[in-house]
Formats: sequence, structure tokens, C-alpha cells
Amino acid sequence: MVLAEETYTLDGKKIVLRSARPDDAQMLIDYLKTVTSETRFLMSEPDEIEYTKEEEEQFINKHNEAKDALLLLAFVDGEYAGTASFEGKAGTRRASHRAGIGIALFQKYTGFGLGRLMMNRLLAELKKLPFEQAELTVSGANKRAYHLYESLGFQECGRIPNADKYDDGTYDDKIEMVLRLCEER
Ligand SMILES: CC(C)(COP(=O)(O)OP(=O)(O)OC[C@H]1O[C@@H](n2cnc3c(N)ncnc32)[C@H](O)[C@@H]1OP(=O)(O)O)[C@@H](O)C(=O)NCCC(=O)NCCS
Repeated sequence: MVLAEETYTLDGKKIVLRSARPDDAQMLIDYLKTVTSETRFLMSEPDEIEYTKEEEEQFINKHNEAKDALLLLAFVDGEYAGTASFEGKAGTRRASHRAGIGIALFQKYTGFGLGRLMMNRLLAELKKLPFEQAELTVSGANKRAYHLYESLGFQECGRIPNADKYDDGTYDDKIEMVLRLCEER
């Protein structure tokens, strides 16, 4: 799905939210490399980001064309600040009531409410769709993200101990969180 441009003011800054466009592809690849180097809480190490521009364009188009997916970009005072997304847990009818959520901001744009704004925006769109639950995974040490998700109603429902082993030999758990959407409609 495609979300038309929306404008907000947050902490005195102008926020623009809009769906990704195919010509954002290179910007999104560069962003993934940067955000994965800024925090240990995302899906991989930066040298594991190997998407081509064509693959990223396909990824963007797939989200825009699907009825059950959204790739939402945020701009703060005109600068790209990060992405939040949801997509249906594809594959089988049995999983079609579940949506997966992801979000990552550049560090310089964290901590002033943008994550909450984007999550609320995603959840508002999700609630218009036939999804019954929103799901996400968060690292055990990611206290900020955990707090944000919990405050939005997500509940911890499982934990994989030592799910991530970092290059320095340390580990972190992965926590599964679920928000029931039917009860909130
Ligand atoms: C996680 C992330 C999306 C949160 O967005 P954000 O804009 O920084 O967060 P917000 O400012 O909207 O809200 C953060 C909340 O966490 C709280 N918080 C901040 N640091 C915290 C900490 N160490 N422990 C507990 N709560 C904390 C804030 O007080 C705020 O809560 P409040 O609104 O109740 O006061 C963002 O920081 C980010 O992208 N981080 C890097 C990538 C990442 O971790 N992605 C999530 C992967 S699951």
C-alpha cells in the first residue's frame, strides 16, 4: 500500500512521513549499512547488507503494490531519518492474520518521539486491515525499543536466549512481542 505524504511537528521539527518510492532504493541501502553499524539491535552486521539497487527497488515495489504491506519513510526537517514497515506473514492462509513490524532510525533521530509517531501511524493502518495481531522481535538489551513497544500494548510472549552472537563473542537474547489488534478495534 502507498501512504500519501503526511506532515507533523514534533519537538519543533518538521516531520514528513510517506511511502518509499523506487528512486529511494540507493538511499535505503546506504541507510541499512549505516543503521546496522550504529546499533547491535538490528538484523545483521553492516558487511552483510548486500542488496543491489534492483533488489531494493523490487522490495519497495512489492510493499507499495501489496494490500497488506507498508514501507514508511520519515524525514526530519527535510533529511531522511529512518524507516518503519509492516508486512503480512506471507506463505499460508494460516498465517495471514499476522503482521510483522520493523523499525530503525538513524541514531541522530532517536529519542525525541519519532519512533512512537511512526509506530502509532503503522498501527493505525494495520487496524484498518483484517490483521488480528502485530508481531515483532526485539533484542534483550534494547531497553528503549522494549519500553516503546510495551507502552503501545505489545506483550512479551517468548524469548530465545543467546539468539545473537556478536563478533566480539558476546550474546544477546531475542524477545518476541505480540499486540492483539482485534481487541483494539
Ligand atoms: C527503537 C527506536 C525505533 C525507538 O524510537 P525513538 O524515536 O528513539 O523512541 P521514542 O523517542 O519515540 O520513545 C522512546 C521511549 O523509550 C524511553 N527510553 C529511552 N531510553 C530508554 C531506556 N534505556 N530504557 C527504557 N526506556 C527508554 C523514552 O523515555 C521513551 O518513552 P516515553 O515516550 O514513555 O517517555 C529507535 O530508537 C531506533 O530506531 N533505534 C535503533 C534501531 C532499533 O533499535 N530498532 C528497533 C529494533 S527492534
